[in-house]
Amino acid sequence: MKNILVQELGEITTPAYVVDERLLKKNLDVLQGVQRATGCKILLALKGFSMHAVFPLIGEYLYGITASSLFEARLGSEEMGKEVHVYAPAYRSDEFAELMTYADHVVFNSPTQIKAYAHRVKQAAQERHKDIDCGLRINPEYSEAAVPMYDPCYAHSRLGTTLNQLLLSGPEILAALDGLHFHTLCEQNADALEHTWQVVEDKFGFMLHQLKWINFGGGHHITRDDYQLEVLHRVIRHVQQTYQVEVYLEPGEAIALHTGYLVSRVLDIVSNGMEIAILDTSAACHMPDVLEMPYRPYIIDSGKPQEKAYTYRLGGVTCLAGDVIGDYSFDAPLAVGDMLIFTDMAHYTMVKNNTFNGINLPSIYLLNEKGTQLIRSFGFEDYKGRLS
Ligand SMILES: Cc1ncc(COP(=O)(O)O)c(C=O)c1O
Repeated sequence: MKNILVQELGEITTPAYVVDERLLKKNLDVLQGVQRATGCKILLALKGFSMHAVFPLIGEYLYGITASSLFEARLGSEEMGKEVHVYAPAYRSDEFAELMTYADHVVFNSPTQIKAYAHRVKQAAQERHKDIDCGLRINPEYSEAAVPMYDPCYAHSRLGTTLNQLLLSGPEILAALDGLHFHTLCEQNADALEHTWQVVEDKFGFMLHQLKWINFGGGHHITRDDYQLEVLHRVIRHVQQTYQVEVYLEPGEAIALHTGYLVSRVLDIVSNGMEIAILDTSAACHMPDVLEMPYRPYIIDSGKPQEKAYTYRLGGVTCLAGDVIGDYSFDAPLAVGDMLIFTDMAHYTMVKNNTFNGINLPSIYLLNEKGTQLIRSFGFEDYKGRLS
């Protein structure tokens, strides 16, 4: 596999994120299949994947984007031009008017935010001569997320409104709503969604007949090989038929899952009780989830430590002691200049990277049957532009 890919990559400058358009289309086909089978609407969550060069392509399949901020909303509006949905734990008063020039749906986190902003949504809708829907993110207090960092239903979570909080908030909140939103999944299969839905329905089902839509949030690993599409279809159809509401899903990861690589090269090899290869990339700068989540990314043609003949610790190029990607083994010894290809690097990488230590950002390439196309490279001005 590596040889064919290396041939396809050609002369690329490393480090580089390379997104394979053919794999992206494969994922988009799966998502379109869900839309066609059920009539639900799927949005791209920009927090997970914001490579806007491919927004026109994604827009051929999906209904639009969901944004977590003013900048994401503007990016989605300018580069895809379809539906723009927004959710944030709290909105800024000084940004809200501009946000309303892009938004089709605005989801609030709390009744107090609705009280503060509902009239401004109405005013913006009048000015734009179009509907802007208001939603509320609920906290069903049920989640099967394995990692606490990604569980929005932990005790005292700030994310979403619990049933108790909602019941205490007064009838004007219910009256202001067009829809409900929940986001409690993280890289999960449809069984977790079905369990969650049962809790949502038990607690909030009484409101649903009065609403236009429900948004199931993200975290649905729909494009994974073992994903239970039939279970997803069943949940969506049940909700549509029982409550006559439109169903939205807003995955980020599932759109870009297994579509991209981070291509790096070995800069040096040192020995300190074991062999250590220093790469031209960095966990801290270019794949922060390796440290944050944490997880071990796969490198093409590598094994676990000692599984293959030559084991190395792979370190990043920053001076952070913990900038270590992990221990990996290979069939042949590594040499300076060797290319290492990390897989599944399209989502939550470009959107989270940084220039700590003044390390340049990886270039961004698109790969398709015609070969690799450089979309963007970065330089000193990008680094300097973030500082003053
Ligand atoms: C509100 C909301 N929607 C959608 C997503 C996208 O989730 P994922 O990329 O896991 O599908 C997230 C991720 O944190 C989120 O918080």
